[in-house]
Amino acid sequence: MQVLENISLKSYNTFGIEVKAKYFAELHSDNDIAAFFSALTPESMPVLILGGGSNVLFTKDFEGSVACIRSKGIVKLMEDEKHVYLKIAAGEVWDDVVKYAVDHGLGGIENLSLIPGNAGTGPVQNIGAYGVELKDVLYSVEVADVVAQHYRAFRPADCEFGYRTSIFKKQGKDRFVITSLCLKLDKQPVLKLDYGDIRKELEKVGIKTPTISAIRDIIIKIRSSKLPDPSILGNAGSFFMNPVVSADEYARLIQEFPHMPSFKSGDEVKVPGAWLIERCGFKGKRFGDAGVHKDQPLVLVNYGNASGQGILALAENIIASVKEKFGIMLEIEVNVF
Ligand code: EPU
Repeated sequence: MQVLENISLKSYNTFGIEVKAKYFAELHSDNDIAAFFSALTPESMPVLILGGGSNVLFTKDFEGSVACIRSKGIVKLMEDEKHVYLKIAAGEVWDDVVKYAVDHGLGGIENLSLIPGNAGTGPVQNIGAYGVELKDVLYSVEVADVVAQHYRAFRPADCEFGYRTSIFKKQGKDRFVITSLCLKLDKQPVLKLDYGDIRKELEKVGIKTPTISAIRDIIIKIRSSKLPDPSILGNAGSFFMNPVVSADEYARLIQEFPHMPSFKSGDEVKVPGAWLIERCGFKGKRFGDAGVHKDQPLVLVNYGNASGQGILALAENIIASVKEKFGIMLEIEVNVF
């Protein structure tokens, strides 16, 4: 493990923001993680652990140590009649894991195809798409506890998972470094086809009895048609979360905005942030090199040389407009540094 100084983070964040880290290291194993944390001094703090850098916005140089987890490995731990348990190193690219599962006929994560980032950062925000969340297939999360200085495992019930959140995003943020995950996948896949356009797209290509491989292809097609590829146009996926409002608040909103779409979320109601932002006139708008994506307004984009502050200023502008028009406070989903 080598600690480098004054390193550009441009290629380590999918927004493509040009900032520098005072110290930088790539960690390829649990030993590297242990060595990195034991070499820290007050001068090299704070620490930021990066996976694929697909859910961060840098607004200034990072005056501490950035570590990229690069450990690799997908191993079958065990199997029973119905399930296969896969241990995934944190540094694996998430979509490679989905491809591996689908290629081996294991169901559960095909709807999470093409989500950018690494496996190890998946639990942090409980990645989700097309009706599936990571928590649905997670058996355990192994972490290095850098405060107590030991390794431990979390079961999903202890991870405080919610919509785009977990203990690793809240109080465990600076304490737990995820080293690997164990996924519990189905040998007889149960397909989840009810979200959005999945059935429609399957029909379009004439598939009547879909397989997980067909679903992966469809999800890749839907995502690629709506979401910008970060290697072409810098972005961090959904910049905002979909707001969740109370039933009373929803009753007020629907009276004033009868065409507002919504989804039930327990006793509350989820409103598509994309719709709110579009109604405020931001869809496809560009302000210098910072912009709002033309097909999915929840996604902010960097046309080339946007600064993190420029993207953040745009986000604040959107939040203020949505608040003024709808009385709803949008919450930022990406981690801003
Ligand atoms: N909509 C508009 N205008 C648009 C696009 C969408 O009004 O231009 C409205 C429509 O009513 C549509 C609704 O928004 O039905 C929902 O749109 P979509 O299905 O594209 O999903 P989303 O709720 O905007 C969420 C996730 C995405 C995930 C998709 C698909 C969040 C914050 N985002 O977006 O996740 O891929 O569902 O499951 O929950 C990410 O987290 O980075 C991400 C891309």
